[in-house]
Amino acid sequence: MENELKLNEIMRPGTIPEVYSSGSDWAILNGDTLKLVKAFLPGTLDAVITDPPYASGGAKQNDRNRTTNQKYSSMTGEKALPDFDGDQKDQRSWTHWMTEWLYDVRKACKSGAPICLFIDWRQYPALTDALQWAGWIWRGTAVWDKTNSRPQKGRFRQQSEFIVWGSNGPMPMSRPVSCLPGVFRYGNPQNRVHVTEKPLQLMRDVVKICEPGGLILDPFAGAGTTVLASVLEGYRAVGIEVTEAYYQVGCERMAVIENARNQAEQKAGEA
Ligand SMILES: C[S@@+](CC[C@H](N)C(=O)[O-])C[C@H]1O[C@@H](n2cnc3c(N)ncnc32)[C@H](O)[C@@H]1O
Repeated sequence: MENELKLNEIMRPGTIPEVYSSGSDWAILNGDTLKLVKAFLPGTLDAVITDPPYASGGAKQNDRNRTTNQKYSSMTGEKALPDFDGDQKDQRSWTHWMTEWLYDVRKACKSGAPICLFIDWRQYPALTDALQWAGWIWRGTAVWDKTNSRPQKGRFRQQSEFIVWGSNGPMPMSRPVSCLPGVFRYGNPQNRVHVTEKPLQLMRDVVKICEPGGLILDPFAGAGTTVLASVLEGYRAVGIEVTEAYYQVGCERMAVIENARNQAEQKAGEA
């Protein structure tokens, strides 16, 4: 395959983690982003698109210290999905931690590479600080309208999340990318496989900020939605996921695509 994704061509020698899964145009690494973003060779990534742990879910620290299921899901008992790591930091630690990986990942990006970061209203100011502190240019905010949220008497619904976006230095208008919307309207996925899974179609729309065929990194891959969306849109993608259960879910979702592609190739060969 032309433009095949080879980890040893984009990562420093000896840094590929022991546990990973890959195909011709994608890979998901099981490990900690704080360490693994340092492993990518300078200037290899065309975009960073991610939905980090928000460490949100309440105004007070006790609320934020609850499990991710308690904070973000109404599914309980046998239906409860696995909790995920990294979501209990207070705001000062979260901002520091975000700045650190954002600084390191920028070094792995090409000049002009876009970045998109999902966030809620509580962490929005801390995120825009961290992004700029790490040397990225903050260029704007798109809106994910979830269309279906809990009504609040006498208050506005918390119906939106935000996509803070920017670039690694100048982002020329001449990039071969067409006009993109600023508001995306998609309900939360039915039958979720991750506590905070993003709709696949939303991610298919968002990845289009990357130049065609580019290499996208999602450093907080969760159930692999960004990686899947990227591959479906003709990009190459690498995901990093620390929580073992979600690393497995992401790999299983990608295996379905791999099988479908193999079968299609086989049929084409037989025709
Ligand atoms: C908000 S979720 C992403 C969900 C994803 N967008 C999806 O649709 O499935 C954030 C993910 O980041 C992972 N995570 C937290 N800390 C991490 C770290 N230090 N390195 C890598 N992954 C991490 C969590 O396990 C969690 O699955």
